[in-house]
Amino acid sequence: MPFLLRSQAQYFRHPKTTAPLELREIRSDGDQVVTGVLTDGQAVFPVDRGIPRFVPSQNYARSFGYQWQTFPKAQLDSHTEWGGESERRLFEETGWPRRMEGQTILEAASGMGRFTEILARTGAQICTFDYSEAVDANRDNNGKSANVSFAQADIYDPPYAHESFDKILCIGALQHCPSPRGAFESLLRFLKPGGEIVVDVYRLYWQSALLGKYYLRPVTSRLPPELLHRLVKRHVAWVYPFTGWLQGRIGRRGRSLSWMLGVADARGRYAMDDTVARTLSELDTFDMLSPAFDRPQTLRTVRKWFADAGLDDVDVRPGYNGIQARGRKPISAA
Ligand SMILES: C[S@@+](CC[C@H](N)C(=O)[O-])C[C@H]1O[C@@H](n2cnc3c(N)ncnc32)[C@H](O)[C@@H]1O
Repeated sequence: MPFLLRSQAQYFRHPKTTAPLELREIRSDGDQVVTGVLTDGQAVFPVDRGIPRFVPSQNYARSFGYQWQTFPKAQLDSHTEWGGESERRLFEETGWPRRMEGQTILEAASGMGRFTEILARTGAQICTFDYSEAVDANRDNNGKSANVSFAQADIYDPPYAHESFDKILCIGALQHCPSPRGAFESLLRFLKPGGEIVVDVYRLYWQSALLGKYYLRPVTSRLPPELLHRLVKRHVAWVYPFTGWLQGRIGRRGRSLSWMLGVADARGRYAMDDTVARTLSELDTFDMLSPAFDRPQTLRTVRKWFADAGLDDVDVRPGYNGIQARGRKPISAA
């Protein structure tokens, strides 16, 4: 298993003071640090199982740790039969080039690393982090790329130097933070003047009221992840045959009924067999019923975040995940 490379310790800072941190190794294997600490002489942050940890291991994102360790490869381009979905989505949402050698990219809330895998191939230097133990799954998936460093950290206090990244990416996560706007604004501190930020976020509109998840979540988001996973499997097993039968008769509207009943129906999304579709449905259903926070935003709200932040070249539009948005930090803001 790949661990923290000794040379990667230079990227980390104290999350509150941004003071540089020194690496003290306890157990190493060649140039990899398995166990150790990062310290500024006062605060001590453990390197545990080869990953620097800046937050308590269990926190409100615990369900994501369970989710991405249970389904570590289900959405990974290199493991899916239909392939290329994450790659397409990443480059469509960002408009970034395929090669970015010499650039530094911060990837916030990366889950098991479906987009880390694509970013790693650009040749840029990637710092990726997640609040949950999903970061362990990401490291297992992408740790072989020497241009990627991993951390378990909070989007409100990322452990890096301010204004040190050319690009920042945050996909699929802002709505799962207690304050989506606060999380977005927190990330801006780490962008160099002239740098680009790209985020996406669930969209709030009238159809949101038809989604069964919002009626189930007050209960399901409080359940232990292991129990919820068992219930999700049963729920999918109950809804699937009925809405599958309907899909055979009335087409796509049958699938919409699954969503109204609180099941993320993946059938027909890609050319895949029934077992894979069911696994994806179980993953996506768990993903929508388990998070502590699910705070979709309107287009108007996200446009206001970008305007209030004074970003240039702003583009906020309906897209993947509901809303996709990008902007550039003005040079004059330095
Ligand atoms: C739906 S997953 C998306 C993961 C990945 N970006 C993707 O698109 O596959 C949302 C992620 O946000 C992370 N997250 C939630 N709150 C966070 C926070 N305060 N700081 C960092 N990550 C957070 C969760 O742990 C989870 O892995």
